[in-house]
Amino acid sequence: MKSRVITVDGPSGVGKGTVCGHLANRLGWHLLDSGSLYRLTGLAVRQDHGEFNNPSACALTARSLDVRFENQSGLRVFLSGDEVTQAIRTEQAGQDASVVAAIPEVRAALLDWQHQALRGPGLIADGRDMGTVVFPDAGLKLYLDASCEERARRRYNQLRETDKTVTLATVLKDLQARDDRDSSREAAPLKPAADARVLDTSALTLVDMLALIDDWVDEYLGS
Ligand code: DC
Repeated sequence: MKSRVITVDGPSGVGKGTVCGHLANRLGWHLLDSGSLYRLTGLAVRQDHGEFNNPSACALTARSLDVRFENQSGLRVFLSGDEVTQAIRTEQAGQDASVVAAIPEVRAALLDWQHQALRGPGLIADGRDMGTVVFPDAGLKLYLDASCEERARRRYNQLRETDKTVTLATVLKDLQARDDRDSSREAAPLKPAADARVLDTSALTLVDMLALIDDWVDEYLGS
């Protein structure tokens, strides 16, 4: 029997979080937000020693992460006892995550955490290498894509709601920097698995994107 895992990979700001939240709700499956582990590692490195260019020190931090997730009216995240739910979502935390994510020893240290997330009835795995490295036997692999300009426009509209000083040019520059780092690294670079269904969402509305994905999921679950 195929393992009950659906992987959702793709670049920053493409809407993976929305898709995964929707699927986890619809199917009643568990959700792995693998990016949060890299964000937590980045934050812990910044708080503990700031040695982003020291792979062994970063790997040690990843191996000894003291993390707790609490699910009460939304997921809350704690690092060494302190709540960091908001702190791991800043642009800086995203850049820090992308830096530590390029270190192979950090990726290896976080692999167990990710495998432990696999529980019945099934798992929706959100990330960059879910289909290529972490769950290569997943029954359904999705890879969402959209142009950098379109993703920047979406993120800018989101950020503008709470921060009127943000500019489209800065958001685009930050996304390009993250795309470059995530795709050009040697360890598990961002790319679709050979057996992934690739969806370019640039010209799709959210409703159309979810409807199309629901069809693929139904087809997989019925097979
Ligand atoms: O999905 P996110 O924005 O929360 O991810 C933050 C960073 O973590 C992203 O720039 C790349 C890295 N990441 C990764 O390398 N592999 C994953 N499976 C998930 C995230």
